[in-house]
Amino acid sequence: MAAVSYYLSLSVVACLCIFSVSSLSDHESFLRCFSHVSPTTNLSQLLYLPNSPDYSSLLFSSIQNLRFASSETPKPLLIVAPADEFQVQASVICCRSHGLPIRARSGGHDYEGLSYRSEKASSFVLLDLEKLRSVTVDVEHGVAWVEAGATLGELYYKVAEKSGRLGFPAGVCPTVAVGGHLSGGGFGPLSRKYGLAADNILDAKMVDADGRILDKESMGENLFWAIRGGGGASFGIIISWKVKLVHVPATVSVFTVRRTMEQGAIELVHRWQNTAHKLHEDLLLRVDIVHVNRGDRRVVEAAFKSLFLGHCDGLLRHMGEHFPALGVERNDCREMSWIDSAVYAAGYTNGELAEILVNRELQPKDFNKGKSDYVTEPIPGATGSMHMDPWGGRMSEISESDIPFPHRKGNLFIILYLSTWRDEGVAASTKHLGWIRSMFRFMTPYVSKRPRAAYLNYRDLDLGRNEEGNASYRKAMAWGERYFKNNFRRLAMVKGEVDPHNFFSNEQSVPPLLAETGKRPQKICSTSMSISDQRSPIKYML
Ligand code: FDA
Repeated sequence: MAAVSYYLSLSVVACLCIFSVSSLSDHESFLRCFSHVSPTTNLSQLLYLPNSPDYSSLLFSSIQNLRFASSETPKPLLIVAPADEFQVQASVICCRSHGLPIRARSGGHDYEGLSYRSEKASSFVLLDLEKLRSVTVDVEHGVAWVEAGATLGELYYKVAEKSGRLGFPAGVCPTVAVGGHLSGGGFGPLSRKYGLAADNILDAKMVDADGRILDKESMGENLFWAIRGGGGASFGIIISWKVKLVHVPATVSVFTVRRTMEQGAIELVHRWQNTAHKLHEDLLLRVDIVHVNRGDRRVVEAAFKSLFLGHCDGLLRHMGEHFPALGVERNDCREMSWIDSAVYAAGYTNGELAEILVNRELQPKDFNKGKSDYVTEPIPGATGSMHMDPWGGRMSEISESDIPFPHRKGNLFIILYLSTWRDEGVAASTKHLGWIRSMFRFMTPYVSKRPRAAYLNYRDLDLGRNEEGNASYRKAMAWGERYFKNNFRRLAMVKGEVDPHNFFSNEQSVPPLLAETGKRPQKICSTSMSISDQRSPIKYML
């Protein structure tokens, strides 16, 4: 089947002339294409046109950001929901041969919704990978194959089902899927010990722009490097990852300690900045700075959240030695299995069962906007940012060019600024977008510089975007170097090799840099900003 399908892929790409359609008016030819490439496919379970009864429920099923769920958001011309790799292959071949751009969606958590919407005027096809979600765990070899549409919760749950001594270092949100998360990096509670999710990828299956199904060996070193942190959407469709599982002890310990401003939150956050990245790699101490209701008052609170790979005795000893000011006590600490700590880290702290991790609708949806920063020098006074994860440990040992994700040694922590709201309408979004953008401007003097680094998985279109039909490497450096630093050039060269016609593109995809252009180094001019407002950043949240 694979060989036949591969042969057909080449012949269909070669024989069908590429033409552009802005609607599916030529849908007979499009359907014929699917029947040729994937003859056994039942098209009614694969293709969903806007007039199909299930089109809307499928489209909205994993739109995670309500900012992009309104009637004004451009909708896909067609949704394709493949159930196997040959249907993914057929989708790429037929969309390409009909000039239809593809957006791939695995979990739909992209902060700017780029997996299911397009800002461009042209029509697009949504390739929804939710049906591709099997997880196959090989305990003996400590590895797993996980399909792109599987969520982190499904991966963690399936691993723990097979062994209480294996885990995987990825993010805290159970409904994020591995398709986007691993191809953009993916950090979480185990990253100080084991690095990013992308650092633990051993092999991958993907479909490239020519419709070929490739694995690590057949895709070659450059493409395998690019998809582990460089964003899968620029290079093809990831079908599945082979990942290395990591050792976790039978018992881990957790605590959450909350402090308000009156309880010394500013001073504690300041100390945390000098401490958290230096702690033992078995110990993670994150901080979320949030507004909470206390009685009839709205107050700012710092929530210190920990995971320790060992018993409470060890955790309390470390905290007593390195951060006594936080005042963690024995009854703050809870011992549990690693899988239960994944439930706890996701915010379910009342003994909820691990089964909730496989609920793809676990988390309530809201309107949101995220932005990120890296901090290399402690911020004086404290910081008014919201979710801060310490680096150090394994994160600082891996070289900047090992995979495209470059933010390693020298970073103390990463900040995720997050504005979330529930009210619909322009006034609410203007207010919240205004807040997060001014917070980001305010933080300029306190964070990394030249470039002001950002994390691809916290996608931010404010950093810039490609022009439709005219993606320029030089222009893309404005955001590409923030996400990838010196790796951006290599990513663009790989793109030039594997997708020179830029079939896989979006508002922030890597543009192709062809070999001739590549010989001429291009310089980026950095702009300096003048900072007049020197208030303490944490006060900014008040
Ligand atoms: P989605 O389906 O939206 O895809 C994201 C991007 O990847 C899009 O460009 C899409 O086209 C592309 N893509 C998806 N599947 C693909 C495939 N199979 N082949 C090629 N391209 C594909 N990050 C982190 O590091 N640690 C964390 O703890 C968290 N926590 C977190 C919580 C919440 C609530 C959100 C909204 C986000 C996070 N993130 C995070 C960020 C998260 O890692 C990031 O948004 C991922 O890209 C989401 O992957 P999904 O597959 O869910 O998104």
